Amino acid sequence: MTVRITPSILNADFARMGEEIGRISSADGVHIDVMDNHFVPNLTMGLPMVEALRKVTDLPFDAHLMIEDPDRWAPDYVEAGAQTVTFHLEAAKAPIRLAREIRKLGGRAAVALKPATPIHQLADVLTEFDQILLMTVEPGFGGQSFLDCVLPKIRRTRELIDGTGAEIWLQIDGGVSAETIGRASEAGADTFVAGSAVYRADDPDEAVRHLRSLARQARTLTGHEH
Ligand code: DX5
Ligand code: ZN
Repeated sequence: MTVRITPSILNADFARMGEEIGRISSADGVHIDVMDNHFVPNLTMGLPMVEALRKVTDLPFDAHLMIEDPDRWAPDYVEAGAQTVTFHLEAAKAPIRLAREIRKLGGRAAVALKPATPIHQLADVLTEFDQILLMTVEPGFGGQSFLDCVLPKIRRTRELIDGTGAEIWLQIDGGVSAETIGRASEAGADTFVAGSAVYRADDPDEAVRHLRSLARQARTLTGHEH
């Protein structure tokens, strides 16, 4: 199983975003946090930022939409250049229809769950998605503490994904650091968003490589590696 690190640029310097992305060349993708001040109490960036950044890097983009009306907006993010578009299950009116629309446009469809949203709601429809994102903080802000109470949900989700036989990435987001990544990896996550742990480091690229090696190590130790 491949381990991927997808840093969030929410903690990068907004005045120098192009250069900031240049500082994470070892990353497997760039996680772009879109917030509308309705679904979450914070306002960040949107389509114009995705379009502008698309011109300065070849890294895949993963747009995490923390917005109220993803049914209306998510397809536009594929067209703006995001390889993966993640919408929240709590916000989508027709999640299957929306996932199919994203895929039809050539994007990878991903669905996100807040910490208190149970995974069983998705158990019968997992293969409609290319990635499941389990939030390990309440969405809205970077720099919060990792919620260990999500670990059993990560384990259950890993079992469900393995049961489908499909290639579905299991991403986690929030409070991922050198201290927490091992237990999330051991529980079965394979794709890790890290914001402050990367952009508050003196050398963000070194932080990416370090996080990846810790995640791999935890996975090998528990025999998950195959
Ligand atoms: C939170 C965002 C996260 C956040 C991660 O709502 O979705 O992507 O930026 O930041 P850290 O790693 O600092 O928790
Ligand atoms: Zn995010």
